[in-house]
Amino acid sequence: MTEVFDFRKSSDESADRSYKLVMPVFFVGFMGAGKTSVARKLARSAGVTAVDMDTYIARSCDMKVKQIFAEAGEEGFRQIETDVLRELACSSEPQLVSCGGGVVLAEENRRILSDNGYVVHLRVTADEAASRISDISTRPLFGDLDQARQIIEDRMPLYEEVANLTIDTAGRGTGSIAREAFARLKENGILVRSSR
Ligand code: S3P
Repeated sequence: MTEVFDFRKSSDESADRSYKLVMPVFFVGFMGAGKTSVARKLARSAGVTAVDMDTYIARSCDMKVKQIFAEAGEEGFRQIETDVLRELACSSEPQLVSCGGGVVLAEENRRILSDNGYVVHLRVTADEAASRISDISTRPLFGDLDQARQIIEDRMPLYEEVANLTIDTAGRGTGSIAREAFARLKENGILVRSSR
């Protein structure tokens, strides 16, 4: 019987933190969709690991993403992004990976995502994304609201192409989104009980 999980509950006390992932789960979506927070909250509830690609890139280059863009340009950043994605896609223990918003741009990345894991698209509007990002200057490609709307429109088919699951984030907090992701990943057999 399918276990019913009420993702509207305001706490995660029903989670017993004893799950494992059968494959990596990649969170994709535009900047400000909540990928990093959702992956972190879900990781905490389920007892699995989460890694944020931008943080990983910044640590391995010892430079902030903004600085990498300034010094190596977008092209340089995208090359590093693909290398890191490839590495995370085949890590020995599957983990939750929050990807940078532009990860879907390269065809090679879309293939890595689809071939190696389960992809969750967190759908967001430009207005909502802007209200969630505390410091827009950390996102070199966000631009103004009109530019952000245009980028979302251009990228939407790419997000949808790779997505195994789309979650609408409109008007919701990251806790609610994480609970829905938890429920859906369990339903789809991606998050399973661990014997640990
Ligand atoms: C980018 C999104 C950013 C970061 C970089 C480029 C994009 O990540 O990778 O600034 O092209 O959308 P977040 O989506 O985590 O903000």
